[in-house]
Amino acid sequence: MKATCTVLGIESSCDDTAAAVVRDDMGELGIMSSVVHGQDRLHKGFGGVVPEIAARAHAEKLDGTVAEALEQAGLTLSDLDAIAVTAGPGLIGGVMAGVMCAKGLSAATGLPLIGVNHLAGHALTPRLTDAVAYPYLMLLVSGGHCQFLVVRGAADFTRLGGTIDDAPGEAFDKVARLLGLPQPGGPSVETAAARGDPDRFRLPRPLADRADCNLSFSGLKTALLRARDDLVRAQGGLWQRDRDDLCAGFQAAVADVLAIKTRRALAIYGAEQPAVPVLAVAGGVAANTAIRRALQSVCAAADVGFVAPPLALCTDNGAMIAHAGIERLRLGLIDDLTLPARPRWPLDTAQPGMLGGGRKGAKA
Ligand code: KG4
Ligand code: ZN
Repeated sequence: MKATCTVLGIESSCDDTAAAVVRDDMGELGIMSSVVHGQDRLHKGFGGVVPEIAARAHAEKLDGTVAEALEQAGLTLSDLDAIAVTAGPGLIGGVMAGVMCAKGLSAATGLPLIGVNHLAGHALTPRLTDAVAYPYLMLLVSGGHCQFLVVRGAADFTRLGGTIDDAPGEAFDKVARLLGLPQPGGPSVETAAARGDPDRFRLPRPLADRADCNLSFSGLKTALLRARDDLVRAQGGLWQRDRDDLCAGFQAAVADVLAIKTRRALAIYGAEQPAVPVLAVAGGVAANTAIRRALQSVCAAADVGFVAPPLALCTDNGAMIAHAGIERLRLGLIDDLTLPARPRWPLDTAQPGMLGGGRKGAKA
């Protein structure tokens, strides 16, 4: 293996067409370029990502996005050591478009092809941004996923638990819809919550009394719906103060359950006696200040480091795929042109499948 290694990463598993070049120069990692083209405009008005529209847009955009990433890095295909691509999990049409693009590049150049699990891309990002050492505890909290992982290596993940129904971002989005607030729901609920009283509506802390690391957000959303309907019946509508208080109560409940379950996950992870214990978070929900603070204080109390990569690298991007590709390349984990595109692909196959785990299965 060369001391310097430069890998192109391609991501198209949901609604972002992304490509990036990452270089590992004797252990020094650098993002040489990262291009992300979102599809928000195309899906607006459909109430979510439409798989067929997403797949077609990826197929049309991928070549140009790869060319942009190479140009921004000042490189050509002949400067690369491998092509890494998200091979799942995700919306199958988009994943196939990415895998086909990567296979074409690999066949044309003779460069090794590396299939990357999208969740592994997220889970390994703290190594790219903060050089975090194995093993660390990872909390993925996005619009499509929620899980605790002990990350021991680029291909060694143990899932300690996760959501059994909705992902937290999905719950934020639904709550915003129930209260007539704009999408994406996370930021609008957070803004309203900052003005509200978290104690006016005492919403449940689902599964908090269970001694495992599993979470549930769907009952919380239903409890909020009931509180909203009671108010509407009693007073004929909702005042802004009501919305603010409902948002504050909901956000406090999410922060509480995440904190409670993080404490449990840290206890399990701590039993491995890591030399430098770290909790890392990724996903759009990790942008929430109240949630971030709750997690930070759990870590401070347990004397565990807290790492939250910059938001652009927490959400979907090609750099995380290129970086995971470098780690796999260093382990000799190379694929060939038979690499399949997989709509479902759990990181930890030793664990039983989750019922929900982010039912949309789209974004992770
Ligand atoms: O990771 P992400 O950008 O996309 C994926 O799901 O992969 O996460 C998007 C989700 C959305 O559901 C959005 O409402 C939520 O993250 N989100 C937030 C905040 N910002 C984004 N949730 C709570 N608070 C926020 N500030
Ligand atoms: Zn993702």
